[in-house]
Amino acid sequence: MGRIIAIANQKGGVGKTTTTVNLAAALALARQRVLLIDMDPQGNATVGCGLSAENGPATVCEVLLGECALREALQHADKSGFHVLAASGDLTAAEVGLLAESSRERALARALDDASEAFDYVLIDCPPSLNLLTVNALVAAQGVLIPMQCEYYALEGLKALLGTVEGVRRGLNPTLEIEGLLRTMFDPRNRLARDVSEQLLRHFGDRVYRSIVPRNVRLAEAPSYGMPCVLLDRSAQGSAAYLALAGEMLRRHGRSRSQPVNALEGPLL
Ligand SMILES: Nc1ncnc2c1ncn2[C@@H]1O[C@H](COP(=O)(O)OP(=O)(O)OP(=O)(O)O)[C@@H](O)[C@H]1O
Ligand SMILES: [Mg+2]
Repeated sequence: MGRIIAIANQKGGVGKTTTTVNLAAALALARQRVLLIDMDPQGNATVGCGLSAENGPATVCEVLLGECALREALQHADKSGFHVLAASGDLTAAEVGLLAESSRERALARALDDASEAFDYVLIDCPPSLNLLTVNALVAAQGVLIPMQCEYYALEGLKALLGTVEGVRRGLNPTLEIEGLLRTMFDPRNRLARDVSEQLLRHFGDRVYRSIVPRNVRLAEAPSYGMPCVLLDRSAQGSAAYLALAGEMLRRHGRSRSQPVNALEGPLL
């Protein structure tokens, strides 16, 4: 069975979507069979792959509501070499519709049941909120990858997210692991960024990816071309970082699986 990874952080604009799209493309370049699931009504990952919800057979909304099988809703991002389950603003309606259901937190996990065999990696781009859509992603996932900017409030936000992960682990998905923490938009000239980065390494050790994503304008430009940066400009610093991250992830999974979340327990600071 493939590895299902939720890319989550309730803080907005930390690089979740950029990470999901570029990691998906980098893993596909390494001949992995990849599915990207856009779980954000903003639909940024869908557009960033050069796709649109309107042009596909169905979206994650219909899949969550049980109106369409996941396999039948997939689109192929031809330029990028992976499959996408697209999202649009309708996803907000799916969230409301799910509230009426008894096993509302398991809708995505259920939909993935018969599909995850077909992929080596399933990457789920979460919205900037700890809502029912994010909980669905955390219940379906085996690991959560947390992109974060190394700034003052980042550690506060991380505590809230780890609390949610722990809550999901206790009730709904006991095997959920912290896949890794990814430092994004990193500027090594910024002293605070260096300090926060050191705190992360001290507390989380090898759960922090060695690959660091620098602030790089090519990463921000790529979505307007409907292509992951790693394909648009492989020589860009941002692309190199995501290719390195994919390599690190493949090595980790080849060697040993992630540690359970409770290995990270204890005060954050
Ligand atoms: N390493 C980077 N260097 C420069 N710009 C970046 C980098 N990573 C992301 N960006 C840009 O920052 C903005 C936010 O990134 P992104 O959309 O990936 O964050 P997000 O966490 O998915 O946001 P949201 O919470 O709204 O879903 C985008 O305009 C993106 O192009
Ligand atoms: Mg996003």
